[in-house]
Amino acid sequence: FEVMWDASAAEKGGWSSFMAKEVAEEPEAVANTMRGRVQDGQIVIPELDGMDELFAGVSRIVIVAAGTAAYAGLVGKYAIEQWTRIPVEVELAHEFRYRDPIVGPDTLVISISQSGETMDTLMAVKEAARLGAKTLSICNTQGATIPRESDAIVYTHAGPEVAVASTKAFVAQITALYLFALHVARIRGTLSPETQAEQIAELSALPAKIQWVLDNEQERIEQFAHWMADTRSVLFLGRHVGYPIALEGALKLKELSYIHAEGFAAGELKHGPIALIEPGQPVFVIVPSPSDSPVLHSKVVSNIQEIRARGARVIAIAETGDAAVLPHADEVLRVPLAAPLFAPILAVVPLHIFAMGLANAKGLDVDQPRNLAKSVTVE
Ligand code: G6P
Repeated sequence: FEVMWDASAAEKGGWSSFMAKEVAEEPEAVANTMRGRVQDGQIVIPELDGMDELFAGVSRIVIVAAGTAAYAGLVGKYAIEQWTRIPVEVELAHEFRYRDPIVGPDTLVISISQSGETMDTLMAVKEAARLGAKTLSICNTQGATIPRESDAIVYTHAGPEVAVASTKAFVAQITALYLFALHVARIRGTLSPETQAEQIAELSALPAKIQWVLDNEQERIEQFAHWMADTRSVLFLGRHVGYPIALEGALKLKELSYIHAEGFAAGELKHGPIALIEPGQPVFVIVPSPSDSPVLHSKVVSNIQEIRARGARVIAIAETGDAAVLPHADEVLRVPLAAPLFAPILAVVPLHIFAMGLANAKGLDVDQPRNLAKSVTVE
């Protein structure tokens, strides 16, 4: 099933920037990537027909990508391992190629690339094929080089992404990885039909939930970004699937607003990053669900207490109904309730809005940040 895009779909329309348009299209990017791939409560990916035997027998998956796509891969790792029990490693494509990687015929190498032209990722795919691995491309650009060089392709249907920093492609990449994971879980029989159905329902509910964030929180986040326009450094903390989201939040802020930003695993805080906390330091914290992940929730809340005691200004991203976090945070940005593996796709939306809002507040070009290219076709 293919979604066709005409040239005018790539125009800015009434939006102030391509990025504003592309963030607004995040719900659609998820919906279009799922379209036609969920039928009668089952995942159907015709592009992967004939590969059941490969997926049944594969003993390891290595995901290669760069930038935002690599963070989508890190999120995907949690879902693929949980649902299929296949061990997954995520490796930056440029590191993979030059370290004599251990891959062979029992390894599936999945590349993720919006453009399908990133040279580092392409060379990693070629190296994987040379070593005898099967390669699967998750790509947003029909007919690009990386999918052409791969054994199989699952296209994301986010539509053309023009702004240099990736936003809607990111949520589409996670969606495609989740579809793939559920497809492989069915082949390997690693999920009960009930659990499979629950996950598919969670996935199907995402576009409306992302829309909720845009409708209810965007204005407030932009206002807030405006107040923070003079900030020199922002930290991001997350745990479990919230960890790659913290990395993505920091990357987007660096790319768009040129502010020093770093993402950390919340559990790592006491092993170093807490030394950075001084009075007034803004820290975004992605808070796990208190009902679905009570243990992780309480651990992250104690991280918040630790940094707040040292003067950090905490901006929590928490699900609606999480009253326990309120007394501990300076600001709370709300996202709808979702099962743990789906929460990051919602938590990233406020971070995309924030990075864009802050760059706008500084009068920067959000579509063409300095020194960056949409597609890096050199090594
Ligand atoms: C460049 C872009 C990033 C992007 C990365 C990977 O660095 O500036 O936004 O995440 O390339 O691009 P790809 O097209 O392979 O997803």
